[in-house]
Amino acid sequence: MSNSPQIVTTVAELRHRVTALREDDSRVGLVPTMGALHAGHLSLVKEIQKHVDVVVVSIFVNPAQFAPNEDFDRYPRALMADAEKLGASGETDLIFAPSVGEMYPPGFATNIDVGGPAVGLESETRPHFFAGVATVVAKLLLAALPDVAMFGEKDYQQLLVIRRLVADLGLNVEILGAPIIRERDGLAMSSRNAYLAEGDRKVAGQLNVVLQSLIAELRDVSPISDVEDNGKRALLAAGFKTVDYLTVRDAETLAPLATLDRPARLLAAATVGNTRLIDNMAV
Ligand code: PAJ
Repeated sequence: MSNSPQIVTTVAELRHRVTALREDDSRVGLVPTMGALHAGHLSLVKEIQKHVDVVVVSIFVNPAQFAPNEDFDRYPRALMADAEKLGASGETDLIFAPSVGEMYPPGFATNIDVGGPAVGLESETRPHFFAGVATVVAKLLLAALPDVAMFGEKDYQQLLVIRRLVADLGLNVEILGAPIIRERDGLAMSSRNAYLAEGDRKVAGQLNVVLQSLIAELRDVSPISDVEDNGKRALLAAGFKTVDYLTVRDAETLAPLATLDRPARLLAAATVGNTRLIDNMAV
């Protein structure tokens, strides 16, 4: 479409275009995505625009963060539709959509293994996930050299991992987090929601409903582990097949919490049908 942002596919082109768009004092922002864009992604683009003059959105389905048994091949890909959505919302200056070969050329052999907030939760079921995320995000940040990068609280553990990565590598970029955008029934928007069969879609909406009720319960019920157990039971009763975790953690470190004596986060992952959903909420 004529109003769609320009798409560049190589790091060299990206650097060239960003340099051309950057004026003396202008600030550049990057929103990394895997595409199949929905209102959650678009909210990040809208939000980052308040902080920068030039907005770059990257669209790259990163093979390094998928395990062999995961959905890399069937992950939705819709570059032209994504470009139109970004064009219609009008905040994006440039799309970076590299090939796998551009990001991981033959001989590529580096992997960034983050500890701290990456330990546990998602890593229990997806042990290589955060190394894949950290490696690609480091590469995207070094390719675009933005002043600011924006991530969603939808992937709360990922946001903390990226903050840790940027601090530990001393990357000169400000990491911002944006609130979760939800469907009308509370289901957090996700490109993977497209996998949900009709019956499963109803169950999926209960994840948020249960988490909300637990936030209220946390005010009156102790110990915290009782509330966590009630939550797991409620999810299974609602029709979830498995609950990988449902836990209250320190909001900054994700360390387990015995009492609510500091900012906390309720996080959960559960499977309905063949689809794994995650959600989280401030306590
Ligand atoms: P992806 O799942 O495409 O998400 C891209 C960004 O959009 C992430 O920061 C994610 O937290 C945010 N996001 C997704 N759904 C959201 C929602 N409902 N509300 C608010 N923000 C939402 O996360 C990834 O891609 C990848 O791991 C990536 C960081 C791009 C590295 O490959």
